[in-house]
Amino acid sequence: MLSAGACPAEFVSGRLRHPVPRYFIGTGKLEEIEQLINLHQAEVVLFDHTLSPSQERNLEEALKCRVLDRTGLILDIFAQRARSYEGKLQVELAQLKHTVTRLVRGWTHLDRQKGGIGMRGVGETQLEIDQRLIGVRIKAINKSLTKVRKQRNQGRRARKRAEVSTVSLVGYTNAGKSSLFNRLSDSNIYVADQLFATLDSTLRRIQLPDLGSAILADTVGFIRQLPHQLVDAFRATLEETTEANLLLHVIDCHNEEHNFLKNEVDTVLAEIGANEIPTLLVYNKIDLLENQPAKIDRDEHGKPWRVWVSAYSGAGIDVLLGAISEIMGEELIEPVLTLEPKQGKLRARFYEHGMVKEENVDEQGNIILALRLQKEEFIRMLEEEGIDPLPYLKPVTLNNDHNASQDAVIG
Ligand code: GTP
Repeated sequence: MLSAGACPAEFVSGRLRHPVPRYFIGTGKLEEIEQLINLHQAEVVLFDHTLSPSQERNLEEALKCRVLDRTGLILDIFAQRARSYEGKLQVELAQLKHTVTRLVRGWTHLDRQKGGIGMRGVGETQLEIDQRLIGVRIKAINKSLTKVRKQRNQGRRARKRAEVSTVSLVGYTNAGKSSLFNRLSDSNIYVADQLFATLDSTLRRIQLPDLGSAILADTVGFIRQLPHQLVDAFRATLEETTEANLLLHVIDCHNEEHNFLKNEVDTVLAEIGANEIPTLLVYNKIDLLENQPAKIDRDEHGKPWRVWVSAYSGAGIDVLLGAISEIMGEELIEPVLTLEPKQGKLRARFYEHGMVKEENVDEQGNIILALRLQKEEFIRMLEEEGIDPLPYLKPVTLNNDHNASQDAVIG
């Protein structure tokens, strides 16, 4: 089964020095495909290339069968998979733009609609009506998209204000991101509160061992050689990725091409400027491999860089959560801060976010706060108050089992 839900009957390949303007392929190939369509009673012919609208039309006429080119096919897959409201709007927009160039098909034989007796001359062809209606819809979608984007930015800002970290799932299509997303958030109870109620369904709150809560974001799957019309739509859905604190790069370790696909994803991540974000590789689907236990691989500094899991069986999910905590916890610091009585506002902010471990007051009435929080947030909060954070910066060592062995095997 293809990702789009079709069942392939036959693959036809060929060498083509120059595409033939009329059909893209030569007449010999055309005949071969026609015979195969009759043999298998095929309902659709998919081309792994971009076809011009007229080539698609000519092929449909010659083959008497539906023809879909690479862009059309990817749009179809995107339409099935788009999860967020924004993603769905973007796909519809791309589909409409794609359709409008192909509209002429099927309508050319129709007469002027509003024309006819008594209305001659003022008519509009069905084609023009369709183009106009599509234009109206495109406008409406663009308006909705502007609104959704605004809401999403507000949500993101609210999360930043609330100092919640975001973990984003990325990976090639079919790697198992959604399955992992459900698995990771299943074991965690999602509590809708004010802050998250307005957020997209592709975001969920998860609880991390020793660290507290974070937001888990699912993204649309990567596809190689994305047609250029789709790049914008695709990138917009990845905005969440570029602002994440940690990326989980999900890889289908059962797929023979997984190394190649990993590089493809890395290339896109670099293009969108997400290659500097700390990344943990998640080798998924170990249930399909023989003798591959759930485990964590560490680099020469003892830092987790790869985790082997199965979203399907749930093996290794606890290891993964532990590894996420460990990486994010590295950025945790435990500074002791002395505040003057007039700096009560900053003190209140630390309390608001549950960052205070202990509080004492010295003889001068100064407040001494023992804190535990993310380094980045600490720096930002202090700088906002005009305090130099440098003297307080010292990392925390997490007291957690995953530090114990270099290559722990977790059954
Ligand atoms: P896109 O939506 O295309 O980006 O895919 P995705 O990365 O979100 O993958 P998804 O979670 O939809 O999973 C793709 C397919 O792999 C589905 O048929 C899943 O059931 C299957 N799958 C996911 N995880 C596992 C796993 O751990 N083991 C096995 N055997 N199958 C899995």
